[in-house]
Amino acid sequence: MESIKVFSPGSITNLSCGYDILGVCLENRGDEIKVSKTNQKSITIKSVNGFNLTKDIYKNVSGIAAQALMKKIDIDHGFEIEINKGIKPGSGIGSSAASSAGTVFAINQLLGSPFSLIDLVKFSMEGEKFVSGSFHADNVAPIIFGGITLVRTIRELDVVSLPIPKDLEMIVIRPNIEIKTADSRKVVKKKVKIEKMTQQSANLGSFVSSLYSEDYDLMSRSVIDQVVEPDRAFLIPEFDNIQRISKNSGSIAVGISGSGPSIFSLSNNRITSNKVLESISQHYSSMDIEHDVFISKVNSGGIKIIETK
Ligand code: HSE
Repeated sequence: MESIKVFSPGSITNLSCGYDILGVCLENRGDEIKVSKTNQKSITIKSVNGFNLTKDIYKNVSGIAAQALMKKIDIDHGFEIEINKGIKPGSGIGSSAASSAGTVFAINQLLGSPFSLIDLVKFSMEGEKFVSGSFHADNVAPIIFGGITLVRTIRELDVVSLPIPKDLEMIVIRPNIEIKTADSRKVVKKKVKIEKMTQQSANLGSFVSSLYSEDYDLMSRSVIDQVVEPDRAFLIPEFDNIQRISKNSGSIAVGISGSGPSIFSLSNNRITSNKVLESISQHYSSMDIEHDVFISKVNSGGIKIIETK
């Protein structure tokens, strides 16, 4: 195989009760990444389309993740990367993660898969560190593993795949503003009261239980954030109103997607999802807030190969 093109999807993380550890892979937003073998023993980014991002391999997450991989293998050739961004950077649905994970996944395929999925998460995390200022794997893990994941630790890196309730779907609304992950992380207070820690742990535990039991009432009671969302809500236009309108339209839960500004709602049927989509979209339109809104089921497969040559 000389070249490969993959679709690397977006992701929703935190899910309110699992800051930096929970993530879910989306179906219908993502980047297309093409990687080709070259004779030179180096990484180059040939093109970036869709959004104005650097081709500097030391500043573009694809280049950074690819270099992390290259350090772990001795080969006499290199790779050229072409990036077609389908996810706007700074949108809260894992734009950088899609690029870095898609790149290392593609390179691994071209090499005959010497690396494990966990290795690919590690390489991709170097890109996440570069854009956000700290290591976290909650976006890259669900893209690489597919489905819903919980990152138990990033030290030895332990990723737990969780069950996907069959009717679960997400409604995502993205106001057309950019919030840099690094900025959104700066507003999060670094100390948590013990009472809040207790409640957040209980919510996370019961959310995981709700995935196994497909108990959507329990899910609704669990997807709540007393720790991070209160600090970040002011960054997102109309967050409180969108939350209220979405809940009134029947959504199971509503929260900030990743570091924002996207907002996710959960539903377990398409009629409710459409109702939520229409009502929140109508609200943003009435406020003249440009936005993109879509419905996605959980993508159990993660990154998909589109073409090989
Ligand atoms: N868990 C991260 C955050 C996701 O909320 O900052 C952003 O990449």
